[in-house]
Amino acid sequence: MATSSISYCFSVAFVFLFALDTLSFQVMTASGHVANDTDQIQFALNLEFLEAEFFLHGTLGKGLDDISPNLAQGGPPPAGARKANLDILVAPIIEEFAYQEVGHIRAIVQRVGGFPRPLLNLSRQNFAKLFDEAVGFALIPQFDPYANSINYLLASYLIPYVGLTGYVGTLPNLTAPASRGLVASLLGVEAGQDAVIRTLLYERGNQTVLPYSLTVAEFTNRISELRNKLGKSGNKDEGIRVPITLGAENKTTSNVLSADVNSLSYARTPPEILRIVYGTGNESLHGGFYPQGANGKIARTCVTGWLEEARLGGEDIGYSFRRDLKLISEVQAPFRGIRRFFYLAFSAAAGISTFFTVPRLFRAISGGDDAPDLWETAGNVAINIGGLIVLVALFLWENKKEEEQLTQISRDENLSRLPLRLSTNRIVELVQLRDTVRPVILAGKKETVSLSIQQAARFRTELLRRGVLLVPVIWDEVRAPQIEKKGFGAPSKAAAALPSIGEEFEKRTQSITAKSKLKAEIRFKAEVVSPSEWERWIRDQQKSEGVTPGEDVYIILRLDGRVRRSGKGMPDWQQIVKELPPIEALLSKLER
Ligand SMILES: *[C@@H]1O[C@H](CO)[C@@H](O)[C@H](O)[C@H]1NC(C)=O
Ligand SMILES: *[C@@H]1O[C@H](CO)[C@@H](O)[C@H](O)[C@H]1NC(C)=O
Ligand SMILES: *[C@@H]1O[C@H](CO)[C@@H](O)[C@H](O)[C@H]1NC(C)=O
Ligand SMILES: *[C@@H]1O[C@H](CO)[C@@H](O)[C@H](O)[C@H]1NC(C)=O
Ligand SMILES: *[C@@H]1O[C@H](CO)[C@@H](O)[C@H](O)[C@H]1NC(C)=O
Ligand SMILES: *[C@@H]1O[C@H](CO)[C@@H](O)[C@H](O)[C@H]1NC(C)=O
Ligand SMILES: *[C@@H]1O[C@H](CO)[C@@H](O)[C@H](O)[C@H]1NC(C)=O
Repeated sequence: MATSSISYCFSVAFVFLFALDTLSFQVMTASGHVANDTDQIQFALNLEFLEAEFFLHGTLGKGLDDISPNLAQGGPPPAGARKANLDILVAPIIEEFAYQEVGHIRAIVQRVGGFPRPLLNLSRQNFAKLFDEAVGFALIPQFDPYANSINYLLASYLIPYVGLTGYVGTLPNLTAPASRGLVASLLGVEAGQDAVIRTLLYERGNQTVLPYSLTVAEFTNRISELRNKLGKSGNKDEGIRVPITLGAENKTTSNVLSADVNSLSYARTPPEILRIVYGTGNESLHGGFYPQGANGKIARTCVTGWLEEARLGGEDIGYSFRRDLKLISEVQAPFRGIRRFFYLAFSAAAGISTFFTVPRLFRAISGGDDAPDLWETAGNVAINIGGLIVLVALFLWENKKEEEQLTQISRDENLSRLPLRLSTNRIVELVQLRDTVRPVILAGKKETVSLSIQQAARFRTELLRRGVLLVPVIWDEVRAPQIEKKGFGAPSKAAAALPSIGEEFEKRTQSITAKSKLKAEIRFKAEVVSPSEWERWIRDQQKSEGVTPGEDVYIILRLDGRVRRSGKGMPDWQQIVKELPPIEALLSKLER
C-alpha cells in the first residue's frame, strides 16, 4: 500500500513540476521588460505636491506643513507661495481642490510610498517669467498670480491639466490592477479639476485681463502653445477657444476640454512633463517650478542621466546591461531552485521507499504463507528505482542547464564590451549601440568577407532601414597589438554623451539628440577595434554552438545586443531583409 501511494506521489510530482515550468514561462512574458508601477506612480507625487501647495497657500495662506506635515517628509517649504485675493465663487472651489490634493498625496504615499517634497518655486516672479514667455513679451506690470481670481485661475490653468495628461500616459503602462485603479481614480478627479478651471475661464473668455490688452481666451491659448513648445511632442494642449479644426468633430470653436481629434485625452510622458514644469524644454535641466528638480527615481534619472553618465562613461552603461543580464537569468528560470528542491525531496522519498521494499521483495521471493505478492512487490521496487534514476537525472540536467545559461550570460557580457570604431573614428563599446542598431558580425577569410560586404551593398538602403551595421572580422589578420590597446583604452570618454541603456524609461528619456548624433555616425559598416578579442569571442560562441572554431560564420545581433541567430558561411542578404522588420515600424509599434 505504502509503495503504491509513493508511485502516485511520483505522478503528482511530475504534474507539479511541469506546472512550474509552464508558470515560469508566464513570469517571463509578464515581466518581459519591467516598467515598475511604484516609480511611475511616485512620479505623479511631484505634481500633486505642486498642486497642493499652490492651492493650499492660494486659499488658506498656509501649506502642507500646517495641514499635514508628515506628508511633506521633511522637504523644504515652497518658495514665494502666498494667499491669493480670490472672490467668493472661486475661493471655495480652490479650497476644495487643495484638500483633494492632500488626499491624493496621502493615497499615493499609503499605496506605494513617497519621497520628500521637492523645493517648489511658487513665487510671483516665477509665474511672471512663465507668462512673459507665453505671450512672447514682458508684461508690464509683472503678472501676479495672486492678485485676483482671474489671474489665479490662469495660473492654475497650468497645473491639473499637466497632471491629467501625465496620468493618461501612465495608466496603460501599469501592470498591477491595484496601481491602475489608483491612477484611474486620481485621473478622474484631476480631470474634473481641470474641467472646472477651464469652465471658469471659459465663462470669462472675452474679458481682458487687466491691465493687459489680452483676453482670458488669448492667455489660455498662449499658455497652451508654450506648453506644447516646451513639451516637444506636438499639439497636446489647447486653449479654451480654438480654430474650428481643433474643435470637437471640427464643429466647435469653444474648447472647454482639451482633447484630440477623436476627443480623447492627450497623454504625456514624464520627460515631456518635466520639460514643461521645469520651463526649460529639457527634462534634465531643472528650473521653473522645481529649482532643484523633481524627486523620485524617474525624475532623478532624467536630471542626473546626462551628467552622471558623462562622468561614469561606458563602464556604467555596461554595468546596467550586465545587471539586466543577471535578471534575465532569474526571470527565465524563476522556479529552478524549487524544482531542484523537489527533485531532491522525491529522490529521498523514493530511496527510503526502496530501502523498505527490497526486504519485502526478498520475502516474496523466498515464499511462504505471509509472503507478499511477488509481482506487486517487484512492480513497486521497479517504480521506485526507475523514479529514483529519473529524478537524479533531472537534477543533474537542471544543473547543467543552469551552467550553460550562466556561460551564455557571461558570453553576452563579454560581447557587450567589445569595441568598435564608427565612421567618424569614434570608438564605442557594442553595448552603447544597443537599441540603435542590429550589428551583423561577419567573420571569415578576407576574400569571403569582402565579397559578402559587396553583396550587402546592393541591399544597402533596405538594410539601413533595418538598422543593420556590418561588423567584419577577418580571421588571424596581423595587426600591431599595441595600437589595439590604445584604441580600447579611449572609450570611456567616447562613451560620455551616449544614451544609457537599462530601464525602459531611461532608454526613452536619455537623449534623443545623442541618439541621433550617434545615428549620424553609423554608416552601414564599422571597424572592429582589438580584433583579437572579437576573434576570441566568436571562437567561444562557435564552440558553444557546436561549430568548428575558425569557420566562416555570420552572427546577427538583436537590438538589445544579444545574439539573435548565427549561421555558417556568409548571410543571404535578401533573406535578412525579409526577416528583420524596419526599425521605424518597430519603434512606432512600441510607442503605441
Ligand atoms: C520599483 O523599483 C524601486 C527602485 O527603483 C524599488 O524600490 C521598488 O521596490 C520597486 N517596486 C516594485 C513594486 O517592484
Ligand atoms: C524662483 O523663481 C524666480 C524667477 O525665476 C527666481 O528669481 C527665484 O530666485 C526663484 N526662487 C528659488 C527659491 O529658486
Ligand atoms: C508608456 O509606455 C510607452 C511605450 O512603451 C512610452 O512611450 C511612454 O513613455 C510610457 N509612459 C509613461 C508615462 O511612462
Ligand atoms: C466672446 O466673443 C465672441 C465674439 O468675439 C462671441 O462669439 C462669444 O459668444 C463670446 N463669448 C462669451 C462667453 O461671451
Ligand atoms: C478635422 O480636421 C482635421 C484637419 O484639419 C482632420 O485631420 C480631422 O480628421 C478632422 N476631424 C474630423 C472628426 O473630421
Ligand atoms: C539638456 O540639458 C543637458 C544638461 O545641461 C544637456 O547636456 C543636453 O544637451 C540638453 N538637451 C537638450 C535636448 O537640449
Ligand atoms: C569573458 O571574458 C573573460 C575575460 O576576458 C573570460 O575569462 C571569460 O572566459 C569570458 N567568458 C566567456 C563565456 O567567454
